[in-house]
Amino acid sequence: MYELKVRASKTYDITIAEDLSLFSERILPLVKGASVAIITDDKVMGFYGGALDGFFAAKRVIKIVIKRGEKSKNATNYLKIINALAENGFTRADTVIALGGGVVGDIAGFAASTYMRGITLIAVPTTLLAMVDSSVGGKTAIDLKAGKNLCGTFYQPSAVYVNTGFLKTLPVKEIKNGLGEVIKYAFLSDTVKREDIRDINAALIYKCLKIKRDIVEKDEKESGCRALLNFGHTVGHAIEKLSGYRLSHGACVARGMVYAVEISRRIYGLSDETVARMYALLTSGKHDLSCGYCAESIARQITADKKRYGDSVNFVAVKDLGKAEIVKIKISDIEKMIKDYENSFKSF
Ligand SMILES: NC(=O)c1ccc[n+]([C@@H]2O[C@H](COP(=O)([O-])OP(=O)(O)OC[C@H]3O[C@@H](n4cnc5c(N)ncnc54)[C@H](O)[C@@H]3O)[C@@H](O)[C@H]2O)c1
Ligand SMILES: [Zn+2]
Repeated sequence: MYELKVRASKTYDITIAEDLSLFSERILPLVKGASVAIITDDKVMGFYGGALDGFFAAKRVIKIVIKRGEKSKNATNYLKIINALAENGFTRADTVIALGGGVVGDIAGFAASTYMRGITLIAVPTTLLAMVDSSVGGKTAIDLKAGKNLCGTFYQPSAVYVNTGFLKTLPVKEIKNGLGEVIKYAFLSDTVKREDIRDINAALIYKCLKIKRDIVEKDEKESGCRALLNFGHTVGHAIEKLSGYRLSHGACVARGMVYAVEISRRIYGLSDETVARMYALLTSGKHDLSCGYCAESIARQITADKKRYGDSVNFVAVKDLGKAEIVKIKISDIEKMIKDYENSFKSF
């Protein structure tokens, strides 16, 4: 078992275990009211919908189930959740449990943060992405027609319980999705090594979450260093949009990290040896790293992004593995560097 304490606007514990044997000890003391709402999606419901029931025998448990997938992270389902809480007489003493991947975590977190201005939230992530990333840090969201994650809050959970046993049923595609973020952490800190990525276990998840915890504690609301967590995401998000969201987030971040390495190589004049070590890491997630989109379209998407500042963006570049920094770069310079990278292929 691994544990981490997060000292943000709320102090809370993360438990990382291989089963649910510590759930009573770690979570039940935080569940004070008489009622518990387990929010999940239909697929997770099929596998693990009853997994927590035994712990709450003395409580009234309601289950709110949304359809699986990003499309469910919408205002209609948000209203469905908070109306169900209201109709079942939930008060601020009661508890919401987010049992699922990042979609469930984001919408259940948003509902918990706004219902009666905030009700106890426990995160029980079931995907690798949610275990290493979205369940910790307090970002909650729903999507609007105009774009993803446009409506949300910062609201820390009261506890996070990671059970790696849930990963046994997670499809390979979803494991690879989460691996995109795991590899990102290996660029941000040298505590996650390439060899670690072969085994997806509690120790690896602990190392990833420790990096995220340290960053969130320094900058909970993303006014500074939390942006480091966007490594690979500037170009990654652009590719995600260009693919019409057909490619998974992790797969796009993996491609985005290739560009981040190539842009870093050009900014800092990295040696071939350093870049080779970075590529060795990038290939460890077995993602398809070919992009298929040209520099102009990528630059156009970055220009449309909400994280742009005038004609520049805060780009996360790496001087070496574990040495990332935020640099302000003109989008036109990013485009030039991508073109230069594309041309380097043509010379073969
Ligand atoms: N809040 C944050 O800080 C943050 C960070 C990163 C991503 N996100 C958000 O997370 C979302 C993506 O999360 P995700 O990748 O977990 O996707 P997801 O929640 O859609 O889950 C992916 C699929 O896996 C299924 N699934 C979940 N657990 C399973 C299990 N144990 N066994 C079998 N199937 C299982 C789900 O039903 C779903 O079909 C996006 O909406 C993204 O915006 C949020
Ligand atoms: Zn991401």
